[in-house]
Amino acid sequence: MPDILQHLQTRNSAPRLTAPGPSGEQLDELLQAALRAPDHAWLRPWRFIAIEGERREDFGEVLERCLLRRDPAADASVRERARAAPLRAPLLLAVVACLQEHPKVPFYEQRLSAGCAAHAILLAAEALGYAGIWRTGDAAFDPLVGAALGLERDEEVVAFLYLGTRDGNPKNVPALQPADFLSRW
Ligand SMILES: Cc1cc2nc3c(=O)[nH]c(=O)nc-3n(C[C@H](O)[C@H](O)[C@H](O)COP(=O)(O)O)c2cc1C
Repeated sequence: MPDILQHLQTRNSAPRLTAPGPSGEQLDELLQAALRAPDHAWLRPWRFIAIEGERREDFGEVLERCLLRRDPAADASVRERARAAPLRAPLLLAVVACLQEHPKVPFYEQRLSAGCAAHAILLAAEALGYAGIWRTGDAAFDPLVGAALGLERDEEVVAFLYLGTRDGNPKNVPALQPADFLSRW
């Protein structure tokens, strides 16, 4: 089987990540892959925000503050989890859908395109020997978090990609049967 096919068929998210993360040059490589996402009318309806190093701590404070706005009664452990979330990987990449009015390309398609870009980044990260996981959660949909990231009114976070070196062994990939997901019309 060609390597690339095996690579596509075995991608495996990594919930636990550690240093090192992709270098600046490698981040460029990841984004080159993202920029080949299928894109109706070439709207380029995506952008990416890297959060790394000490900025992860600053972003953790944002997450905790926004959590408290959503849920003022959040207890200490939930607050701590929010504050520490960005520290779970050396590189956090927010994938943002930049939604544009277009007569033939509804927002739905633009969100899908941003999702394809996110997937391409995960695949490219594995190709470079790293690993990652796509997370969202309440923070991704919180307009206050978006504002802190500098999002415009028509922009949305579709993914927080946690990227770094896999910590521990990959889980077993479930043996799913293509036939169970295929019908013929
Ligand atoms: C849009 C989207 C949002 C997700 N959000 C989360 C999340 O917030 N937390 C989480 O643990 N997994 C989340 N996942 C799932 C993981 O990224 C991953 O797919 C899952 O752990 C299964 O691992 P696998 O991709 O190796 O099969 C999300 C996946 C997608 C596509």
